Amino acid sequence: MSFLKNLFHKPPAVEKTEITKRFDLIGRVGQGSMSKVWRARDTFTGNEVAVKVLDKVKMLRFESRFPPELKKPSEGEVAVTFKHPGLVHTLEYGTTTEDEQFLVMEFVEGLGLSYLVDTQNEMMQSGRLRFIVQLAEAIDYFHKEGWIHRDICPRNVLVDPDGVVKLIDFGLVVPNTRPFQAPGNRTGSANYMAPELIKRQRTDQRIDIFSFAVTAFEMFTRELPWDTAETLDAVLQHINQPPKLITEFVPGIDPELGDVLMKGLERDPRDRWQSMSEMVEALRDVRKRLHQQAKARQRKVAKPRPVAPANDEAPRADAQGPAGGPGQGPSGRPGQGPSGGPRKKPSKKPSSGPEGPPKSR
Ligand SMILES: Nc1ncnc2c1ncn2[C@@H]1O[C@H](COP(=O)(O)OP(=O)(O)OP(=O)(O)O)[C@@H](O)[C@H]1O
Ligand SMILES: [Mg+2]
Repeated sequence: MSFLKNLFHKPPAVEKTEITKRFDLIGRVGQGSMSKVWRARDTFTGNEVAVKVLDKVKMLRFESRFPPELKKPSEGEVAVTFKHPGLVHTLEYGTTTEDEQFLVMEFVEGLGLSYLVDTQNEMMQSGRLRFIVQLAEAIDYFHKEGWIHRDICPRNVLVDPDGVVKLIDFGLVVPNTRPFQAPGNRTGSANYMAPELIKRQRTDQRIDIFSFAVTAFEMFTRELPWDTAETLDAVLQHINQPPKLITEFVPGIDPELGDVLMKGLERDPRDRWQSMSEMVEALRDVRKRLHQQAKARQRKVAKPRPVAPANDEAPRADAQGPAGGPGQGPSGRPGQGPSGGPRKKPSKKPSSGPEGPPKSR
């Protein structure tokens, strides 16, 4: 009898994919801590895609942190539900013939945000605030869909050639519900982790707001708001102190913008922005005002000699960089980079290579 019951209740057979048959693997693009990622051509569709194959052992170890009755959705199940320009588009997910989980995504031909933080190149100088607003909007959407990302950091953000920010890596995502908010699961990237997460307290969307604020701080300053640390205990030691002030690195930053970002770094989640929507609204307001101020300056400068500007990029608020501040010449303030970027300062970051600060998973 029980044999018959089992026969009829057998789970449906899952078709497994032989990755090297289905895809032409063009080259490895990333070695994450939990996966391998390839740039590939899908032989079914002919499309260029990114194929992410998750490490089986590490996945099992991570998933065993959650009681099975919680039914934590897999990275693929979560990722395919997203429809937003700020989140990488996932086309499909499945299981390989080696029993690994895999995801097929749009291939984002672009630069990692970590690279932009490190180099502070022209793209970063001219797009910094726009990228920050886009990333905030992507996280806002993500939260409204009912998830916590848990690993917001420059390593998990790409910027495509059109300057569009793409949040990637949904490997640590959990639903923003009571059972998943329960204390204990200390996964993420150490230097971006909110104090309540490190202290094993209850966590919600506000841990992403904190990580986002650390990321934005770094985008402006090339530094972390607390000294970098190798272990969670060491991070905890640091985080007992208040963060460094963004004005210490970028004295010319618009004061309101500085305040908006610093409020994201409040150590007590009750003092932080409570929702990403609130923070996005505040950021959009600042950006709008800076644009208007830049336009007004442009009109003023243009009045006596009505000559057309050489290019329409010239006086944008973002292009000036908040550090340059309104009304400054192209060389910015003393002690700052030529476009008002962060003050040049020897980096205190560890020489841990492009992968950046340590992870805890
Ligand atoms: N859709 C994509 N298009 C282009 N490159 C991608 C894409 N997805 C991931 N990558 C590259 O692969 C790297 C690793 O991807 P991802 O962060 O998703 O893996 P992970 O193993 O979860 O990473 P980690 O645990 O180190 O954060 C990324 O940093 C990025 O360079
Ligand atoms: Mg990653």
